[in-house]
Amino acid sequence: MLEALPKAVSVYEVGPRDGLQNEAAVVPTEGKLRLIEALADAGLRRIEITSFVSPKWIPPLADSAEVAARVRRREGTIFSALVPNAKGLEGARAAGMQEVAVFLSASETHNKKNVNKTIAETLQAFEAVVGPAREAGMRVRGYVSTVWGCPYEGAVDPKRARKIAEQLIGMGCYQVSLGDTIGVGTPGQTERIVDLMLERIAPEALALHFHDTRGTALANALVGIAKGITTLDASIGGLGGCPYAPGASGNLATEDLVYMLDGLGVAHGIDLEKLVAAGELAQQLVAHELPGRYLKARLAEKRKAATV
Ligand code: HMG
Ligand code: MG
Repeated sequence: MLEALPKAVSVYEVGPRDGLQNEAAVVPTEGKLRLIEALADAGLRRIEITSFVSPKWIPPLADSAEVAARVRRREGTIFSALVPNAKGLEGARAAGMQEVAVFLSASETHNKKNVNKTIAETLQAFEAVVGPAREAGMRVRGYVSTVWGCPYEGAVDPKRARKIAEQLIGMGCYQVSLGDTIGVGTPGQTERIVDLMLERIAPEALALHFHDTRGTALANALVGIAKGITTLDASIGGLGGCPYAPGASGNLATEDLVYMLDGLGVAHGIDLEKLVAAGELAQQLVAHELPGRYLKARLAEKRKAATV
C-alpha cells in the first residue's frame, strides 16, 4: 500500500479560519496576523486566513476585512478566505484576496443549519460567486462538507457528494476539498470514498479535510495519500471545528501530518520546528492547550531540556 506514494504533497493550512471560527475566546486581529505570519514563516504556501461570512453567524471572524487587508503578502504564498455568497466575494475582493473558497454540505440538514439555504439554493448562489471571482482573476476552491457523515442525518451517500463536487468543478473551482466535518470517518470508508471520487475526478482536483474528533484523521489522510491525493487540509495544533456541527472538534493537526510525511519521505516544504513555534503561539492566543500530538511531545521535550 505504501510503495507508490506521491513524491510531494501540498498542505493547505486552515487554522486561522477553521480553527479560530470555533474558539470561545475571540483572538484579536493583531494575534491572528502574528499567527498567519508564523505559519507562512514555517513554509506553508496555502493558508486560509478568514471567512467573509455574516459576523452574526461567526463572531470570531468578524474582523475578516481587516485581517485580509493587513496580512503581509509574500511571493509564492497564497492566502484564501471562505465566501458563501456575492456579498462575501465583494468583501474578499475589496480586501485584495487572491483566492476564495465556496462551501456547502452533502447533507441538506447540515447545509441548512450552516448557510440557511437548501443545497440547490446554495449552488445557485455560487453562480454569482465562482464566475465573477474567476473573471476578477481569483482562484476559487470548493468545499463539500459532511461527506463521511452528517451530525443530523447520519450516513451520507458519497455519490451525492461526488455529484456536488463535479458541479463545483464544472462551475470553475480548481479544487474541491472533501470534508469529514464531524470526524467520523474510518480508513476503509475513506478508501471507498476516494475510489468513488477518482472514477470521475482527477486527483489534483481533490483535497481531503479531516477533523480528528475520533482520532482517525491521520489514518484517513494516509489512505488518501496512498490513493494519490496530493492536497491535505490541516490546522495548526489541531485547532478548530464547525460551529454548526455539534461536537465537531479540530482538524488533523498540521504538525502531526508533517511529521508523518517526513517519516514517509514525502516532500512538503515545511519546517517542523517552525511549525512547533507557530503551534506554541496558537496555544498562547487561544489560551488553552491544543490537541496536536507532535506539538505536545515536542514542547514537553523542550521543557525537559530547559530544566536540565
Ligand atoms: P442569512 O441570514 O440567510 O443571510 O445567512 P441573508 O442573505 O438573509 O442576510 C442576512 C444578513 O446577513 C444581512 O445583514 C446581510 O447583509 C448579512 P442585515 O441586513 O441583517 O444587517 N450577510 C453578510 N454579512 C457579511 N458577509 C456576508 C453576508 N451575507 C449576508 N457574506 C449566510 C446566510 C450564508 C450569510 C450565513 O448563514 C453565514 O454567514 N453562514 C456562515 C457559516 C459558516 O461560516 N460556517 C463555518 C464554515 S463551514 C465549515 O467550517 C466546514 C468546512 O471547514 C469543511 C468541513 O469541515 O467539512 C469548510
Ligand atoms: Mg472544517
